[in-house]
Amino acid sequence: VTIFVPRDAAALALGAEKVANAIIAEIAARGLDAKVVRNGSRGMFWLEPLVEVSTEHGRIAYGPVKAGDVSGLFDAGFLQGAEHALHLGPTHDIPFLRQQTRLTFSRCGVTDPLSLDDYRQYQGLKGLDNAIAMTGAQIVAQVTDSGLRGRGGAGFPTGIKWKTVMDAAGPQKYIVCNADEGDSATFADRMIMEGDPFVLIEGMIIAGIATGATKGYVYTRSEYPHAIATMRQAVEIARAAGILGPSVMGSVHAFDMEVRSGAGAYVCGEETSLLNSLEGKRGIVRAKPPLPALQGFLGRPTVVNNVISLASVPVIMDRGAAFYRDFGMGRSRGTIPIQIAGNVKYGGLYETAFGLSLGEIVDHIGGGTATGRPVKAVQVGGPLGAYFPRALFDTPFDYEAFAARDGLIGHAGITVFDDSADMLKQARFAMEFCAIESCGKCTPCRIGSTRGVETADKIAQGIEPEKNKALLADLCNTMKFGSLCALGGFTPYPVMSAMNHFPEDFSPVPMVEA
Ligand code: NAI
Ligand code: SF4
Repeated sequence: VTIFVPRDAAALALGAEKVANAIIAEIAARGLDAKVVRNGSRGMFWLEPLVEVSTEHGRIAYGPVKAGDVSGLFDAGFLQGAEHALHLGPTHDIPFLRQQTRLTFSRCGVTDPLSLDDYRQYQGLKGLDNAIAMTGAQIVAQVTDSGLRGRGGAGFPTGIKWKTVMDAAGPQKYIVCNADEGDSATFADRMIMEGDPFVLIEGMIIAGIATGATKGYVYTRSEYPHAIATMRQAVEIARAAGILGPSVMGSVHAFDMEVRSGAGAYVCGEETSLLNSLEGKRGIVRAKPPLPALQGFLGRPTVVNNVISLASVPVIMDRGAAFYRDFGMGRSRGTIPIQIAGNVKYGGLYETAFGLSLGEIVDHIGGGTATGRPVKAVQVGGPLGAYFPRALFDTPFDYEAFAARDGLIGHAGITVFDDSADMLKQARFAMEFCAIESCGKCTPCRIGSTRGVETADKIAQGIEPEKNKALLADLCNTMKFGSLCALGGFTPYPVMSAMNHFPEDFSPVPMVEA
C-alpha cells in the first residue's frame, strides 16, 4: 500500500510533516506493509494536509488530516480506503478536482516530484523526445500554433518571443525562467517547482533546442526555500540521467541549467530588473528596447518566460498544437491555472480552459467567502490588478475581456474580499505597495506613489475630498502613461477601479469642526 502525504509548502505549513512522521511511526508500530510517498499538492488548500491511500479502487483521499488523527485512521482501516469522518472518497471525484482540465498540472499531486520513473510513467519527456526529432523552426511553429501566451501576466505570444531569439545571432543564448512569483494570491509557479519540477526542466530544454540556447537559469525568490531545494535536486537528478548536459538524452543538443534565488524585491519579477539581479547587479529596471530577446542576460539573446509558460510546452509538444489550441476562447488559448485566494471558502489552484466567468470562479468554484458574508470585490491579477465588483462578474477569464473592462488577468491570482472591505484603504494600500517596491528609476512611480498615499489619506480625512479625488485620478493617469515598467504603470488599476466601482467608500463623512 502506498500512502501519499504532500511535501508542498502549503501542506507543510498546515502540518504535513508531522502527519507524515505519525504515519511512518504507525506503520512501524503495527508492522504493516505500507510505504509513504511525499507528493506535491493537489491544490485544494482547505483540505490540506490531504492524505491519499492507493487502493484497488484507486486513490482514496482523507483530509484535512492532523497528526492526532493518524492512529484513529489506521484503526478505522484507512489503508483499505475505509469510511472515517475525514474520508473524502476517490480523489479524482472531489468536485473541485473533477471539473478541472489539468494539462500543465496533470502530474502535480499525483507523482513523487523527484522520481524520474514516475515522471516517465505519466507522459514525462515525450514532448522533449518529439522536440529532439524536430528543427528549431518546427518547434517554434508548433508553440506558435498552440496559441500559448505568456502566463506571467503580459500574455505575449510565446512562439513569437522564441522566434525572435531563434533568429538573433549570437555565440551564446540563454533561457531564463521567471519564477519570482511575487503577486499576492499566487502560488502556481511554486506548486510546479515543488510538485513537478521535471516539467519545468523539460520545458526549458525544449526552449533551448528551439532557440539555440544552451544555458538556462531559474530565477526564484528566497521566500521559496522548498521550491529552491526541490528544483536543485531535480536538476541534479536530470543531469545524472543525461537529460541535462552536453548531450541532451543522447542527442546533438547541449543544455544545462542552474537555480538562482533573489532577495525578494517585487520589481525583480519585471524581466529586465530580474536580468540585472541575475547578473549580480541591483534589481533596477532597464529601458526597453533593447528587448531581452535580443540583448538580455549578459547582453545576449535571452528568452525570459514565466514558469507556467515553460511548463505548458511539454504537453504541447507531446499532444500537438491543435490539441492545446482547442481549449479556451478568443485569443486566449489552452488552459490557465487560476489561483483562488483571500476571503474564500475553497481556496486553491484550479486549472481550466480560458472562458469561465469570474462569477462562476468566485461563487461556485470558490464557494463564496469564508466568512459567509457577501462578496464585495475581487482583485484579479495580483496587487496591481483591478478590483471587480459583482456587477462585472459576467467577465469571462480571457486576456482581452479583462482588458476591455480596465482589468488584467496577470498571473491569474484572484483575491476575494467580503463586504467589510474598505476600498479606499485598498486603494491607499496599492499606492503604499508601489512606494515600498518602486525601484526608483522613474519619477511618476517613485514620487507619484508617495503623493498617492498622501492624497488617499486626505480623502479619508475628509479634506477637500472632491479636489483630492480629482487629483488622485490625475496622478493615476500620469503613472499609467509615464512609468517605465508595469509596477508604476499598473498601480493605477487597483486605485481607479476602487474609486470607479465603489465611490461610496471614497465619500466619507466630512470632519466636524470643533
Ligand atoms: P510587455 O508587454 O512589454 O512585454 C511582454 C513580453 O514580450 C516581454 O517579455 C517582452 O520582452 C516581450 N516582447 C515584446 N515584444 C517582443 C518581440 N517583438 N519579440 C520578442 N519578445 C517581445 O510587458 P512587460 O513589461 O513584460 O510586462 C507588462 C505586463 O505585465 C502588463 O501588460 C501586464 O499585463 C502584466 N502585469 C502582470 C502582473 C502580474 O500579475 N504578473 C502585474 C502587473 C502587470
Ligand atoms: Fe522602477 Fe517604478 Fe519606474 Fe518601474 S515604474 S522603472 S519600478 S520606478
